[in-house]
Amino acid sequence: MSRDDRYETKTSAIEMAASHLRAGRCVAMPTETVYGLAASIVSREGIERIFQLKERPSFDPLIVHIAEIDQAEEVARKWTSIARDLAQAFWPGPLTLVLPRRLLINEMITSGLDTVGIRMPRHELALELIRKTGAPLAAPSANRFGRTSPTTVDHVRSEFPEAVASGEIFVLDGGQSEIGLESTVVSVTENEVTILRPGAVTKLELEGVAGRTRVIVGAPNSKAKTASPGHTEHHYMPKKPLIVFWGSAAEVALHRESLSGFQVKIDGQELVGERIGDVILSHDSRLAARELYAAIRNADLDTGVDAMIIYREKSELDPSANEIWEAIDDRLKRASRLRLGDRPQ
Ligand code: TXA
Ligand code: MG
Repeated sequence: MSRDDRYETKTSAIEMAASHLRAGRCVAMPTETVYGLAASIVSREGIERIFQLKERPSFDPLIVHIAEIDQAEEVARKWTSIARDLAQAFWPGPLTLVLPRRLLINEMITSGLDTVGIRMPRHELALELIRKTGAPLAAPSANRFGRTSPTTVDHVRSEFPEAVASGEIFVLDGGQSEIGLESTVVSVTENEVTILRPGAVTKLELEGVAGRTRVIVGAPNSKAKTASPGHTEHHYMPKKPLIVFWGSAAEVALHRESLSGFQVKIDGQELVGERIGDVILSHDSRLAARELYAAIRNADLDTGVDAMIIYREKSELDPSANEIWEAIDDRLKRASRLRLGDRPQ
């Protein structure tokens, strides 16, 4: 295939995806974080379909994806100067800003909250798709509610086999997601930035833009109004039980060596070491983030194991790398059924 042919193929796929969205249907959209299940924010039917397909409870709001700053102003009622600075520094990129919403937005998108989450993805196909559709796109991660987010089109297909096969969901292939973890979600007021969900944009980076004293880490599980409603204690879960062990290199080595003799009961199921798959994580936090969900999915498909274990070896790395480990640890805590060792708070 020549370069021109490839370009044509890509362009026509985007055209088809955009017309799908304009007709009130859903598209699996590649982004730099994870794949989203997108619908046009002006299509009530499309938004309803997202909730039905995902079996997502109505209390969990959707993120609105934009391609131009002007679109954010159509969706948010109020732009504080901090929000402007953050958008300028991190968009397009893996940061979702939660801001006061405009009333004209469909209430289903915001789950009846008076705020809306907005982000500009850093993926050429996503930006092109939003522009071609002519409206911002609401998109949660393209997985069934509570399950692991997809980072490839194959993952999307395995989440929604019938809807993809029937053409109800149009799948736009944008390759493997570069980051592999969902965006950092922050709620922004006049003088505060509260981290509701950690991600690849770290606290340190946010502090660099908003000022050190203004960035707070939210309590995602609290009943506080600022909590991120969908970021529940159990989330990102594979079908098979995931065990996570946090420890030093020596502690990890010791546990790993004795894994074959390890026995544990999870939810009434007896698990023996020989049938627990060791899911290896990279020592490089960016690579670990990129590969985590695919590795969990592979272990889920492996008929040779009944459960999986991830050894999260803690070491002294540079602070910004450590903060990506924070986002990884957050997902590991929520995805696991058993947490062992010196786990993070
Ligand atoms: O990277 C991402 O953010 C991906 C890609 C597709 O953009 N999307 C994603 O969407 O992870 P989802 O729906 O799986 O998670 C979005 C979370 C929601 O669970 C919710 O907790 C939070 O963002 N959120 C959205 N709107 C909010 C709001 N108005 N207030 C508080 N939290 C909000
Ligand atoms: Mg999700």
